[in-house]
Amino acid sequence: MAPRDDVARFRTNWQEEVDAAATYGALAKIERIETLAEVYRRLAAAEEAHIGFWESKLRDAGIKVPARRPSVRSRVTVWLAGRFGTQSVIPALTMKEQAGRHGYDGQPGWNVSDNSVRGSKPIARQLFCNVGRWNSNLAIKQHL
Ligand SMILES: [Fe+2]
Repeated sequence: MAPRDDVARFRTNWQEEVDAAATYGALAKIERIETLAEVYRRLAAAEEAHIGFWESKLRDAGIKVPARRPSVRSRVTVWLAGRFGTQSVIPALTMKEQAGRHGYDGQPGWNVSDNSVRGSKPIARQLFCNVGRWNSNLAIKQHL
């Protein structure tokens, strides 16, 4: 059995990924610009893989994986995007992505060469930088 701190960390990381997958998945459905919707779908798919990574960590620690339920923050973000458009939540998502840039670095047992749970972050960072300009979706197309 993993130490209690590890299990708490696995749960926190898992919830972050559940929130990210739920948020990006919802944005993909709300977004009217197809190229952006596709980016959101890809980010959601990447986050789904990250969920699987932390679920396996929890199972390996002997913990039953709870039902996936997005946090209030995630649900509010989705509500805002539906009400005011996806661009209304881009600044908050950008800040979250930037804050989480090195989120797993330094965690015990974390293999820094393991890209399985960080694969979407460079894409997301570049996406949000480009979406911030918002005048053209041409820059976004280069990521597809
Ligand atoms: Fe992730």
